[in-house]
Amino acid sequence: MKRFEGKVAIVTGAGSGIGQGIAKRLGCEGAKVIVDYVGNPDGAQETEAAIEKAGGQGSIVRADVTRMNDVKWLVDSAWEQFGSADILVNNAGMEKKSEFWDTPESDYDQVMAVNLRGPFFLTQTFVRRLRDAKKTGRVINISSVHEDMVFPGFDSYCCSKGGLRMLMRNLAVELGPLGITVNNVAPGAIATPINKALLEDKPKLDALLKNIPLGRMGTPEDVAGVVAFLASDDAAYVTGSTFVVDGGLMRNYREQ
Ligand code: BGC
Repeated sequence: MKRFEGKVAIVTGAGSGIGQGIAKRLGCEGAKVIVDYVGNPDGAQETEAAIEKAGGQGSIVRADVTRMNDVKWLVDSAWEQFGSADILVNNAGMEKKSEFWDTPESDYDQVMAVNLRGPFFLTQTFVRRLRDAKKTGRVINISSVHEDMVFPGFDSYCCSKGGLRMLMRNLAVELGPLGITVNNVAPGAIATPINKALLEDKPKLDALLKNIPLGRMGTPEDVAGVVAFLASDDAAYVTGSTFVVDGGLMRNYREQ
């Protein structure tokens, strides 16, 4: 028996990068997966195809986590199509680079809406259904090493991820009595589209790689393995924590 058989997972931002890796992993291990996307229908189809190829079931839903109607529609879709929603992976995220002095209001609003407001209200909608159905569940937020570590030029991103860290801690306490666990996975430098500019800038990339003790960028699969653990029965007693997946990046401060 596959370890997520009988479970339904919602993965936001599952059309590319880390979200795609997570959706594939959960689907290949037996979960029915709601493959959420916004801008990348081809990617979402690729995710669904990979899940089906492994004998699993996926369903693509286009929902923007910054819109309440979409958020409701996303959770309703899981219950209508698959009869439940047991695992929520708040993965959809974005970053905008600018000097603090020059950050436009619209960039700040967009980053906070996708990275923090989205998970806040999607989790609220997700757990209301679980509470009404008297079911337990799992919430896993994909935050970042920057929920804790500074990242000059990405102030709104750091605010959103730091907020996600405190949201996770609060909700672990508030939702624990319902048997709902809440944890964060904090990736470091993972080779995905969010890092396109960095991946194309060799000197910057080489400098970053020097800071990573394991000597390479991470992959979506590296992150997906930890998410699968947190979604599994092995993590039944784990809540309120952040799991860093960064090849040692955060621990590697050195005076030059
Ligand atoms: C950011 C990347 C960055 C990495 C390591 C991630 O959260 O999205 O742009 O390279 O952290 O600093």
